[in-house]
Amino acid sequence: MRNAGKNLKLTVNNLSVCYHDEGPIKAPTIVFIHGFPLNKSMWDVQLEVLKSDFRVIAYDIRGHGGSDAGIEKFSVSLFADDLLHFIDALEIENPIVCGLSMGGYIALHAIGKSPDRFAGLVLSDTQCISDTPDIRAKRMKSIENINKNGVAHYAEESIKNLFGSDSFTTRKSEISAVRDMIVQTSKQCLSHTLFALAERKGTCSKLQDIAVPVLVIVGKEDKITPPAAAHLLHEKIQGSRLEVLPKAGHLANMESPSRFNDHLRNFIKTFDKKTIPQILARDLVFSGNT
Ligand code: MLT
Repeated sequence: MRNAGKNLKLTVNNLSVCYHDEGPIKAPTIVFIHGFPLNKSMWDVQLEVLKSDFRVIAYDIRGHGGSDAGIEKFSVSLFADDLLHFIDALEIENPIVCGLSMGGYIALHAIGKSPDRFAGLVLSDTQCISDTPDIRAKRMKSIENINKNGVAHYAEESIKNLFGSDSFTTRKSEISAVRDMIVQTSKQCLSHTLFALAERKGTCSKLQDIAVPVLVIVGKEDKITPPAAAHLLHEKIQGSRLEVLPKAGHLANMESPSRFNDHLRNFIKTFDKKTIPQILARDLVFSGNT
């Protein structure tokens, strides 16, 4: 039986995962995967607005938010296994998976492992390349800095790169929410995830095998995974759509939620009933709320 609500717990792949699960059970399902070093609450606006038309699920990646860290060494591949186990445990058929940045890395690893599991992908502010030696070195430096100067200092440094220029005046509450998410993350989780990101494999050579609809979204001012990375995904994934959001940086869904949600809805409207059987089960009304 499905448990609906917020901050639910489920044991998956030997760890307790914390998640929100809202919206009608028979509606098409979107599973949201957060970026680093954040947690599921970065998707709060999407869940609130989209839950009238979709079953919307956002979960905390191991070690983040309310999910346990477990005992295994963190890797993006392990995070992808967690996602696949999570979807199985909830018995979700053909979800659309929407991942931002690290969430996109996880989605791309997961579809590589299990190509038939998803109805579609939304890849927001993410990329298929692995880290360059330079970026890897920066991550090691960040680990040193976190240990030396603490998480609050790391949060301030990270925020400078996460948002587009206008957001520093127009999105103060989002910035404050992001600061809270970062400072609530343990030093150990930050370090282990930075290692996992540094060691992740690239997925560019597998993009041609993706056979489901894909929407690529990027903030025009994204400094971490810039529009060029999104263009590369779009070129390599046959039939994909690309949307570039003005006045948004790396956290496009928080900085431009109306546009982000509209693109998501419009993308899902293009699915046929064979791809998402739930469209058959429910007379979908797209309210157009943003
Ligand atoms: C994220 O937002 O998940 C991170 O910026 C990803 C990364 O550092 O590669």
